[in-house]
Amino acid sequence: MIDSVEFVKLLKERKYSGEELAKIFGVSRSAVWKRINKLKEEGYDIDVSKEGYHIISSPDKLILEEVKPLLKTKFIGYNYIYFDKIDSTNEYLKSDDFPDGTVVVAETQTAGKGRKGRKWISPYGKGLYFSILLKSRLEVYYVSKLSLVFLWSVFETLKKYTASCDLKIKWPNDIYLNNKKLAGFLIDTSIENNEVVKVVVGVGININNDVEDFNDLDIATSLKIECNKTFDRKKLLADILYQVEESYYKFLDTKFFNVKNVEKNLLWLGETVKIVENGTVILEGIIEGLNDDGSLILKVKDKIELIYVGELSVRV
Ligand code: ATP
Ligand code: BTN
Repeated sequence: MIDSVEFVKLLKERKYSGEELAKIFGVSRSAVWKRINKLKEEGYDIDVSKEGYHIISSPDKLILEEVKPLLKTKFIGYNYIYFDKIDSTNEYLKSDDFPDGTVVVAETQTAGKGRKGRKWISPYGKGLYFSILLKSRLEVYYVSKLSLVFLWSVFETLKKYTASCDLKIKWPNDIYLNNKKLAGFLIDTSIENNEVVKVVVGVGININNDVEDFNDLDIATSLKIECNKTFDRKKLLADILYQVEESYYKFLDTKFFNVKNVEKNLLWLGETVKIVENGTVILEGIIEGLNDDGSLILKVKDKIELIYVGELSVRV
């Protein structure tokens, strides 16, 4: 059996003959040749000569061969499932029993979902659309804080790539860049006896999207649109998974997450917003910050109200 990750790694380093490769992987030369053709189909540019094979360039795809060598995680992404096209990475992880830490990634989603069944636009090869499965048991009480841990981890990573831009967290589940929506989270939890037994963290981030990719949705933006350059999706994905793993384990260990990390980066902090439920404005007030349990603190006239996630949306 050819270890495809190792195979690609070697061919990126230098030229290898078919004979050498057959020997290294303990397979026939025709198996090597077949694998070379498969890589070409994936989009690898391979120089083939009498002396052997050498990878000249790699496809901009989130395939295992490209992402695995960049992963610094110990556990998240150890089981990595890649799709060129899928309905929704969240739905896929919910459809069966997968190992803890499984990551599902797709180049495009035909039925990418936001909250309340809304559609998440997922153009091919432009963004990051992935879901992480986590199975540690946790009291239900911690769920909203856990969501903030994920949100903050992705935010922190993206901040490193958007130094001079205005990156903000829109409570409860979005990241905004220069006042437009850059990323969204869809967190599905399975609960048994007041304990969370399974969490599927779905993340959608607009990376190299052009304006035309958003079908006239003018609240949306991408890293490319705002920063005028293209970004390496593979590296971003690996960095995000690393940060999520670090923060998640710290949170599991200590049960502590400083909500101030999120609060200080909140979109519309100190501004007047409307709380909308099923299209109706149910409250209007000033965002004062975040409560320690992850709820939003709203000052309505002279009264403080705590807003819990549920079916609510925050609007200006
Ligand atoms: P809420 O405050 O309730 O989260 P929201 O408008 O952000 O409100 P979500 O359900 O979180 O709604 O996200 C889905 C919404 O995101 C869709 O209704 C659509 O307006 C928008 N959307 C869909 N695809 C994208 C995308 N690729 N980038 C940015 N925004 C998108
Ligand atoms: C939102 O803003 O409401 C959340 C959007 C979440 C989109 C991601 S893309 C990967 C994963 N699969 C889905 O179907 N949704 C999430």
